[in-house]
Amino acid sequence: MIREIVQVGDPVLRKKCAPVTRFDGELCTLLDDMKETLKKAQGAGLAAPQVGVPIRAVVVDVEEGYFEFINPVFVWQKGEQRGAEGCLSVRGKAGTVVRPSKVKILFQDRKGDKYSLVARDFFARAVCHELDHLDGILYTDKAENVRDAED
Ligand code: CO
Repeated sequence: MIREIVQVGDPVLRKKCAPVTRFDGELCTLLDDMKETLKKAQGAGLAAPQVGVPIRAVVVDVEEGYFEFINPVFVWQKGEQRGAEGCLSVRGKAGTVVRPSKVKILFQDRKGDKYSLVARDFFARAVCHELDHLDGILYTDKAENVRDAED
C-alpha cells in the first residue's frame, strides 16, 4: 500500500526514532509499504519517520540494489564527497551536501538477523541521508545551499 510521505514541518521528522524490537508482521507490512511508496516516488531512499512511523528502519533503492536496514549503525565513515541531494519530505528542493565517500554499517533485516555492509559513492550518500532521518536530521540542516530543484 502506498503511504503518504510526510513533509517538512511535521514534528515526526524531527524525532529521535526508537529502535525496532519486534520483527513481526506489522514491521513487514511497513517495509513492504515503504518499498512501494519509494518506487512510486522514484526516490533513492525512504526512512520510516517519513511515513509517520518514528522507528529505526530505512529502505534504500540504488544501482547496487534494493536494501532494508533495521536498527542501522555506523561502524566507520571514510573520505569525503560533495554532491547534490534532495529529499522526498522536502519537495521541489535540492542542495549540496558533503558526506563520507565510504561507510560501513551494521544492521538487521526484517527477520532480525544481523549483517554488515560497506557502501561507497552515491550508495554511501543515500545511507548517510537515511540514517540522519532516524535522528531527526534533514539534509537541509547540512546543505551548503538549498535551491529549487530543476525538475
Ligand atoms: Co530524506
